[in-house]
Amino acid sequence: MIDAKAIVTIDGPSGAGKSTISRGLAARLHFTYLDTGAMYRAVGLALTRQGIDLADTDAIKKCLETIELDLVPNGDDDVRVLLNGEDVSQTIRTPEMGMVASRVSANPLVREKLTFLQRQLGEKGGIVAEGRDMGTVVFPKAFRKFFLNASAEERARRRQAQLAEKGQSVDYQEILDQISKRDYDDSRRQLAPLKPADDAIIVDSSSMDPEAVIACMLASIAKSDR
Ligand code: DC
Repeated sequence: MIDAKAIVTIDGPSGAGKSTISRGLAARLHFTYLDTGAMYRAVGLALTRQGIDLADTDAIKKCLETIELDLVPNGDDDVRVLLNGEDVSQTIRTPEMGMVASRVSANPLVREKLTFLQRQLGEKGGIVAEGRDMGTVVFPKAFRKFFLNASAEERARRRQAQLAEKGQSVDYQEILDQISKRDYDDSRRQLAPLKPADDAIIVDSSSMDPEAVIACMLASIAKSDR
């Protein structure tokens, strides 16, 4: 059985299914799910609300010093995001906040603060950490690292279906363009760019359902645990 203090990382581009897979894997391993994208989204929301320009280093510093960010487990495989005590879990889940988070995440002060917080949260292990730089930067010694990918077209199709379920009708091309821009920005930035760790297992979920991806990861974990 995998060590209860182990860390498993899942990195990958937006829309590859990381959240669903990470939640499912965390539940199966009885681990805690760490959603680091939500942390960047919450900081993006805080900076936006305060009207802070991303070029204004002093203002960002001040905001980061005062901000209180909490991730509170909600049931077995969910987490609530509290920004200064306010539940912003839903507010941060829009495509627009995803773009804001992507911009904010290129800022060195923001990355430094969130990397520190993430390592604190992962200190005791027993987590499945999801993001862009979990295996490369934040937890380089993780027990098992995965890089979850899917074609941009498939990711756009899935995102469109998710939004449709919520009653939102968004043009496919618009979603595909947003996804492509985020991929480009996240992987070209200087700090902690999106890329697989050298020792990551790459999983392409384009033609796999979530249960199949989780089963494949569990098998890989079991194999390396022997
Ligand atoms: O996974 P997500 O869509 O919630 O992430 C939102 C943005 O946050 C993403 O475009 C890039 C950034 N991010 C990051 O830079 N590093 C992480 N570990 C997680 C997210």
